[in-house]
Amino acid sequence: MKKNRHGADLYALETKYHYRPEDIRDFSSNINPLGPSPKAMEAAAKNIRALCRYPDPEYRKLKAAIGDYLNVDQAAVLLGSGTSQLIQEAIAFIKPARALINSPCYSEYARELEKIGAEIFEYHLDYHKNFSIDVNEIIARINEEAVDLYVLTNPNNPTGSILTRADVARILDETSAHVLVDETYIEFTDPAIYSAVSLVKSREKLIVIRGTSKFFATPGIRLGYAVTGDEALHAALAADLSMWGINAMADVMGRVMFQDVAFREESFRLIQREKAKVIAALEAKGALKVFPSYGNFVLVKIKDKSRRAAELREALLAKKMVIRDCSNFKNLDERFFRFCLLDPESNEALVKAIDDFFKTS
Ligand SMILES: Cc1ncc(COP(=O)(O)O)c(C=O)c1O
Repeated sequence: MKKNRHGADLYALETKYHYRPEDIRDFSSNINPLGPSPKAMEAAAKNIRALCRYPDPEYRKLKAAIGDYLNVDQAAVLLGSGTSQLIQEAIAFIKPARALINSPCYSEYARELEKIGAEIFEYHLDYHKNFSIDVNEIIARINEEAVDLYVLTNPNNPTGSILTRADVARILDETSAHVLVDETYIEFTDPAIYSAVSLVKSREKLIVIRGTSKFFATPGIRLGYAVTGDEALHAALAADLSMWGINAMADVMGRVMFQDVAFREESFRLIQREKAKVIAALEAKGALKVFPSYGNFVLVKIKDKSRRAAELREALLAKKMVIRDCSNFKNLDERFFRFCLLDPESNEALVKAIDDFFKTS
């Protein structure tokens, strides 16, 4: 049986605990609690019959909407079934012999690099430096190890650390490696400072990949997109998308969600507000070390050496809440966990449940 490598498998919890997936407060999947953009939901409902037709094989309107959003020509937009497909195909095409990843980082990168037989080098994010990424060290490491590809998730999952666009430009200018930037969580930050998208016009070894699963709360439509300055990579990824490879609902919702400015602003504000509140509440308890985060999720370490994140996860499951036990991330141990911000009431319930757990011995 395929093992779940990521956040909550709500369907497995349904079998084990007889919980309905919709009754679980999922703090583990990093999905915007507001749900999808109301405009996108309305479009989906109105256009349900789009499921009875083939989508536009060229996805002209969808690419135009993404092009507008990214401020790039629509011809530059690549599409994929979630970021997952684009990650897999970009790595398979670049086929680096040697690659550098941050550690810890999203586990699919190591998996895809292992599949193509790349030698993997890890840049260890230091707990004592709040897991921050030092751009000078990254540049030195890429040059010393002569790596062909550096993968940066920006902000990084699970640590929430980040580099600026100026940092990414320096990496491209001062090394000869390809740089793959995964901007899955970029909308939870200020893209004007942190997004590397505008660099693709002048840097040919850059690929930036994004998706709609998290900020736009639509993991079910499997919509990912990318831009790259590498013409051969662009051609390969465009050719890899199978005929009608993007489903009709992704096409319908994607045409409107990016332009829903009210939804974007409300989502950003909600997460900023809740993140500050929850971090302050957890830090006040003293039992936890909470790391700063640019994402909609927060990494936490339990201070007491005799307690484990897995026990906390079990205790919270009894209250129908799921957090991510991070013990299987490289460079973390059994005392680390991650949670994402949900609605204010759920976040308060989480803080209380965590507090209750540490009050019991
Ligand atoms: C950094 C990162 N990239 C990619 C993905 C996969 O996203 P998608 O649903 O777009 O395939 C995730 C999911 O957790 C993620 O955290």
